[in-house]
Amino acid sequence: MCGIVGYIGHREAYPIILKGLKRLEYRGYDSAGIALFDGNDIKLCKTKGKVDDLEKKITKEISTTGSLGIGHTRWATHGVPNDVNSHPHYSNSGNLVIIHNGIIENYEPLKKELLKRGYKFTSDTDTEVLVNLIEDIKDNENIKLGKAVQIALNQVVGAYAIAVFDKNKPNEIVVARLGSPLAIGIGDDEFFIASDASPFIEYTNNAIYLEDEEMAIVRRHKEVNIRKIKDDSLVNPYVQELQINLEQIEKGGYDHFMLKEIYEQPHAIKDTYRGRLLTDKAIIKMAGIEDNMKKFLNANRIVVVACGTSWHAGLVSEYIFEDLARIPVEVEYASEFRYRNPVITENDVVIAISQSGETADTLAAIKLAKSKGAFVFGVCNVVGSSIARETDAGAYTHAGPEIGVASTKAFTTQITVLTLIALRLARAKGTISSSDYRHHLLELEMIPDKVAKALKSDEKVKEIANIYKDAKNFLYLGRGYNFPVALEGALKLKEISYIHAEGYPAAEMKHGPIALIDENMPIVVIATKKGHYDKIVSNIQEIKSRKGIIIGIVTKGDTMVKALADHVIEVPETMESLSPLVTTIPLQLLSYHIAVMLNKNVDQPRNLAKSVTVE
Ligand code: G6P
Repeated sequence: MCGIVGYIGHREAYPIILKGLKRLEYRGYDSAGIALFDGNDIKLCKTKGKVDDLEKKITKEISTTGSLGIGHTRWATHGVPNDVNSHPHYSNSGNLVIIHNGIIENYEPLKKELLKRGYKFTSDTDTEVLVNLIEDIKDNENIKLGKAVQIALNQVVGAYAIAVFDKNKPNEIVVARLGSPLAIGIGDDEFFIASDASPFIEYTNNAIYLEDEEMAIVRRHKEVNIRKIKDDSLVNPYVQELQINLEQIEKGGYDHFMLKEIYEQPHAIKDTYRGRLLTDKAIIKMAGIEDNMKKFLNANRIVVVACGTSWHAGLVSEYIFEDLARIPVEVEYASEFRYRNPVITENDVVIAISQSGETADTLAAIKLAKSKGAFVFGVCNVVGSSIARETDAGAYTHAGPEIGVASTKAFTTQITVLTLIALRLARAKGTISSSDYRHHLLELEMIPDKVAKALKSDEKVKEIANIYKDAKNFLYLGRGYNFPVALEGALKLKEISYIHAEGYPAAEMKHGPIALIDENMPIVVIATKKGHYDKIVSNIQEIKSRKGIIIGIVTKGDTMVKALADHVIEVPETMESLSPLVTTIPLQLLSYHIAVMLNKNVDQPRNLAKSVTVE
């Protein structure tokens, strides 16, 4: 994780880097730092805490002038978050300064070697080892910084996106990537470096995304020079036009990004199916599926790999694929899959789901599946991300940037894409009747309106949040398609309010969690009309007879659950297979309001990060 930013050009670097760090804080926010070249020397300031803390400290400590600089916002891997472990890190001579996102796995033997050679270390970080390794190579071999970086990186095992400069050559920044993203914004005689394009979106629409094992020397008044780290071969820069705009990455009047993103869902879902769902022609058009139809139709099974909320979207897709397209599905945590020698063959289709497209475990799972000959299809939100590039084919969710660490619109748009795929495959396989197929298309088209209606429960959800905000535990129950929604609801609450919550299939409750139920336990039960309604009503009765507090998510107009529950939140009626898209809305709002009422940092919950590029 961690966010990195750099600038070299004709403007003052500090304001660009500071603003860039604020935009990248979703990647990590336990410490921050900036190093600037003021024309004579490096000026460096860093601190434990957020970018706001750095901003308060920096002008008291250093002059912030200079047109070259680098900055970092950290999610700690090696060494606790404190001022010393924060980045940037100097080399021993003070000539080089570096920022790093990732992990140098073999830092200990490298450090031992450097210690023997007289190097001293002030921090516990792997990054300080890397900058000194670069310095050692540079000085011993009397070579330029770029070459020294290249030699050093060939000795390193791990993952990195780095930016480093030398105060004696203050007209260039050397950057490199392996496993952590790095974009170079190409302006008018100026360059921006960042973990994603958000820090430079108002300055340029053109960017180069470095590929793994590439490094670049970004020089003032020159072209960017890109090389392969391993064999030094030159790479032709591919300049992409960016697809995001400034408005998309700002809060737009909402108190938090998470709330903005919850409210964006009707629009985001429409963007996901735009041009793909052609109800008038009863067609689903997705190039990545059409081009690979044979692979899908001949597949023995689909294996979904993902982490976190994306894994929950994968679980929903298991119901959809099996129900509609009759294809067996297994859903795997990418972190488990990658290390357990899974049985995967060329007859398997692997679907990797990831909002960021950068999750390290998911990326490793993809590589493993590919090495076993499987066809790997990606469902990502971030265009041009590592997973989007690593997969054989894919479909973007087009949800727009998701900045709140707790995922919301990514979840519903992932389900939308997966539903489109399942419907397309069901049609091709003939496992769905044409009337059922049409019905699904029409219903899917109406989902954005229904999500907008579900959002109208906001005030009611807020009242409920106020009553139960001090509860110590929550239980979330659902069945069928809504079992993964229960898991997701519990995850949202844990992530941002730090209240312990468990999601369970409603019928499993009696095999354990029922023992937890007493008059203090709020239990959120997804009890919409379609799908196991009677069974859920029985589960609710079981809870009531143990004095549990029921918060029911019900279909508009429901009376039966209303008569039993302590509170109900209504959502519009839809087909069972599409119901997760509406039932998840009040659960997102519930966690949001509780977290706000408890004064928690909704967009940047403790210990978490948006993009987990370490295992
Ligand atoms: C982190 C985020 C979660 C996300 C998960 C998977 O834990 O905080 O919100 O669901 O990573 O991320 P991905 O980008 O692969 O969907």
